[in-house]
Amino acid sequence: LRMILIGPPGAGKGTQAPNLVEKFDAAHLATGDMLRSQIAKGTALGVAAKEIMDNGGLVSDDIMVGMIKDELTNNPACKNGFILDGFPRTIPQAEKLDQMLKEQGTPLQAAIELKVDDDLLVARITGRLIHQASGRSYHKLFNPPKVPMTDDVTGEPLVQRSDDNEESLKKRLTAYHDQTEPIVDFYKKTGIWSGVDASQQPATVWEDILKALN
Ligand code: AP5
Ligand code: ZN
Repeated sequence: LRMILIGPPGAGKGTQAPNLVEKFDAAHLATGDMLRSQIAKGTALGVAAKEIMDNGGLVSDDIMVGMIKDELTNNPACKNGFILDGFPRTIPQAEKLDQMLKEQGTPLQAAIELKVDDDLLVARITGRLIHQASGRSYHKLFNPPKVPMTDDVTGEPLVQRSDDNEESLKKRLTAYHDQTEPIVDFYKKTGIWSGVDASQQPATVWEDILKALN
């Protein structure tokens, strides 16, 4: 399966992607996780990206397209398919992806939009906890780990993302509505778009994603 997940910060992209990975044996390509790993390693890209991310802005299209191109070409896990989470995020990114995949003869098969009203997202974002190394996410109230502040799989500590505060969220939402939402129309035109009500319980959202893919 080759697909993208579209949705605002906190919509559930990172929560639903592991279900898709397991079901379809596809790779999870999350550009936010890739950038956070650059930050953790202290690379020049990581240093530049951290400032942009904490400020709720978008990293440049050239850098992001390069990152995804590298994954699609060199990551053997993508052979069986991929779930793009957080990419594309602008019309130029969507156009470049389209072109790249067409050249490889492997066009996208689905674009699922996770739809949630902005007012539900503050609670989701401010209560989120993540396991840094894997990108796994939890929620203090809605999806608590078995042991408080501890990753279920590795037993390692959970942390809060530095952009998960109300001030950064406001800017991330503005970036989403101005720069990312236009890609919904782009995919509606190509006929591969489906919308899912992502304000429901995670298990119900997952059922609706499967229905949309059928
Ligand atoms: P990224 O990491 O992609 O962040 P985002 O798009 O803001 O999305 P989130 O990760 O916040 O939300 P999510 O939908 O994954 O939510 P989750 O499932 O965790 O990007 C970060 C930054 O990197 C960007 O701001 C930008 O600066 C940069 N960047 C990345 N890609 C880029 C690109 N292509 N171009 C340019 N810049 C780029 O869920 C959230 C919380 O809610 C969790 O706690 C979860 O447990 C809970 N939850 C999930 N589903 C439900 C539910 N149904 N009910 C109740 N709670 C739920
Ligand atoms: Zn995410």
